[in-house]
Amino acid sequence: MSRRVLVLSGPNLAALGSREPEIYGTLTLAQVEDRVREYAESLGLSAQCRQTDDEAELIGWLHEAAREGWDVVLNPAAFTHYSYAVGDACAHLVGMGSRLVEVHLSNPAARETFRHASVVARSATGTIAGFGADSYLLALRALAAPDS
Ligand code: DQA
Repeated sequence: MSRRVLVLSGPNLAALGSREPEIYGTLTLAQVEDRVREYAESLGLSAQCRQTDDEAELIGWLHEAAREGWDVVLNPAAFTHYSYAVGDACAHLVGMGSRLVEVHLSNPAARETFRHASVVARSATGTIAGFGADSYLLALRALAAPDS
């Protein structure tokens, strides 16, 4: 059975495709998630994709991954910059032995100052930002690497 990876997207990412396409690209979230599932399968992983605008729901999913021992690819979206609760759930997840890759479509470090801070980065196994939808695929690649 292939190893499960939870691929989580935070607030406003359901609007991908029409949301500031010059920054986030023209693919819809459904199209990104199709690519994610397909690429994961080619790497021998099984990706389960979920999106929420709700902080509590996202935290619940991070706890579920911690309990189940799943690795997580997380685009925390705006929660990245201010949600200590999401940051703490990420620290718990990694403390329980899962790996966590923080991803962003854009490169927050090259944007407004408030986007420069990440409350997730301190616990992430690694961060991939600035490659559009490919950021998600590169994260899967990192998690599938035999020595990772
Ligand atoms: C984002 C970057 C965040 O600053 C922003 O709030 C998002 C998307 C990205 O994927 O580039 O919603 O995480």
